[in-house]
Amino acid sequence: MSVGICVTTALPYANGELHLGHILEQIQADIWCRFQKLRGKRVLFVGGDDAHGTAIMLSAEKKKISPDAWIADVWQRHQADIADFHVDMDIFYTTRSEENRHLVEGIYQVLHGNQSLMTKDVEQSFDEEAQMFLPDRFIRGTCPKCGELDQYGDNCEVCGAHYLPTELKNPYSVLSNTSPVTKSSEHVFFRLSQKSKMLKHWLDNADLQSSVKNKLVEWLDAGLQDWDISRDAPYFGFQIPGYSDKYFYVWMDAPVGYMAAVSRYDVLNQTNYLRDIFDVGSDWDLVHFIGKDLVNFHGVFWPTVLTSAGYRAPSSLHVHGFITINGEKMSKSKGTFVTARDYLNALSPEYLRYYFACKLSDSVVDIDLNWEDFVARCNADLVGKIINIGSRCASFVHKYFSSQLAGRLDGLDLYHKFLEKGDAIAEMYAQKKYNCVVREVIHLADLANQYVDSKKPWQMAKSPELLPEVSEVCTTALHLFWVISVYVAPIVPEMSKKMQQIFSHKATHWDDAKRLFLKQPLGAFPRILERLSVDMCPA
Ligand code: 2FM
Ligand code: ZN
Repeated sequence: MSVGICVTTALPYANGELHLGHILEQIQADIWCRFQKLRGKRVLFVGGDDAHGTAIMLSAEKKKISPDAWIADVWQRHQADIADFHVDMDIFYTTRSEENRHLVEGIYQVLHGNQSLMTKDVEQSFDEEAQMFLPDRFIRGTCPKCGELDQYGDNCEVCGAHYLPTELKNPYSVLSNTSPVTKSSEHVFFRLSQKSKMLKHWLDNADLQSSVKNKLVEWLDAGLQDWDISRDAPYFGFQIPGYSDKYFYVWMDAPVGYMAAVSRYDVLNQTNYLRDIFDVGSDWDLVHFIGKDLVNFHGVFWPTVLTSAGYRAPSSLHVHGFITINGEKMSKSKGTFVTARDYLNALSPEYLRYYFACKLSDSVVDIDLNWEDFVARCNADLVGKIINIGSRCASFVHKYFSSQLAGRLDGLDLYHKFLEKGDAIAEMYAQKKYNCVVREVIHLADLANQYVDSKKPWQMAKSPELLPEVSEVCTTALHLFWVISVYVAPIVPEMSKKMQQIFSHKATHWDDAKRLFLKQPLGAFPRILERLSVDMCPA
C-alpha cells in the first residue's frame, strides 16, 4: 500500500486554447483524484503547460511578442479553464521555470556522467532563408510513395506512409517557401538502445492497460533506437550545459515538468514531496494520465530517463482515446471544434463531467460526444432521475412535517442495498471504469424512484392517519438521495455539494454515505441543474 499518489495530466502546449480533448483527460484524472481523496488517500495532483519548442517560438514571432509573453498569456487562460471545469489540481505550473531548468540540468549531468549520452552528427533539412533547421512539420512536399502533393515532412495524410523529410519529393519550407538544403550538425543522444533490460524490468512491474503493455513490448522487441535530445539554435527552450548553440529538445524537458510542478508546490507549501515521490524506493505511487498518442514518450523514454538519472520510474500510465464530436474528429472548418471556454460560456461543467464519466472506461477507446445524446442523458439521468428523488420528497417534508425528517426509516432493505453497493462502486472508480459507476448509480436512482412511486406519498398524504408513514417514506428516500450524493461526488462535485446542502452537511469521506439524519431539520431544496436543450449546447 502506497502512502500517497502523485497524479499528473499531460502538459498541454502553451500555444493555443484548451479544447474538449484536453478537458476529457483533466476530468478523467480529477474524478480519480477526488475518489482517492474521498477514500482517505493522500493525493498530489499536478499539471502545467509545456512551454518550449519551435512551434511556440514561431507563433510568438507571428504575434510579434516574445515567447515568454505569449506563454504567460496562454498559461493564465489554461489555468482558469482547468479550474472552471472544477478540476481540483494542487498546482498548475509550467516547464518554463527555474525549477524545471534546475531539474533538467541535474538529470543531464547524471546521464552525462554515467555514459547514458553520446554525440553524433546528424543531417537535417535547413532553411537557408530562415537560417534554421526545420522540424518535420515545417517541411512539406510530394509524398514519395503515392505522389500526393503538399504532404507533411514525416507522413502522408492520404496514403498513410511514414518517411524521412529528406525522402519527400520537391520539398519546401513552410516558413520561407524555399527548398531546404541538407546540413549536418552535432546532436546529443540518449543511449536508449542500451536500456532494453531496464525498460523490460519496468514493463514487468508497472501497472499498464494490456493493450498499452502489448504495444510497448512490441516496440521493445523491435529494438530501441538512440534518442536525439538536442536541437540547434534558434530554439525556445533550455540551453544544454556546455554548448552555446544547443537546446534540450522540448520532449526532454516536458515530462520533467511534472517534477518541476511538485518542486514548486514544495516551495509554496514547505513540503518535501519532490524527494518523497521521486526518490528511488519512494512509497508513493506515480500515475500519469495521457492520451494514446503519448504512449511512446511516457512508456519508453520517460521511465528509462528517470531510472538512468537515479530517480524512481512511474508506477502506472493510464491511457485514454481521443474525443470525437458527433462521430468525427473535431474540426474548425466544420464548426465542431469546441474550446474549453466555448463550452464554459454555454453550460455548467457538471453536465460534461457526467457525460464523459458515462463514456470513460479502462480501455483505450475514442469517446464520442454527441450533443443530442448528451442532452438526453443529462436530462434523463441527472435531472429526471437523481435530482427528482430529492426534490419530490423534500417538498413533502417541508409541507407536512415542518421541515423535519422522521425518527426512523421505512424501507430498510432498500437502504441497506444502497449501502452494500458502496464497495463495488468504489472498486469501479479505483479501476477507472466510470461508465460502470454511472450504470450502477443510475440503477440505484431507478430503484429509489420506483420505491417512491410504489408508496405514492402524494395519495397517502390525503389521509391524516397515514402522515407518519409519509414522513418515514420521504425520510427514507432522502437518505437514498444522500447515499447517491456521496457516490457521485467525484464525478459531479458541485451537484453533489448542492444535493448535500439540504442536510446541512458535506461528505468528506466515502463512509459518510452511511450517515443518518433522523429527526434532523431539512434545508430548502436548492436549484441544482436545469434541463437542457440542444440549442443551449456550444456547437
Ligand atoms: O503532446 C502534447 O500535447 C505534449 N505537450 C504533452 C507533454 S506531456 C508531458 F510530458 F509534459
Ligand atoms: Zn502518400
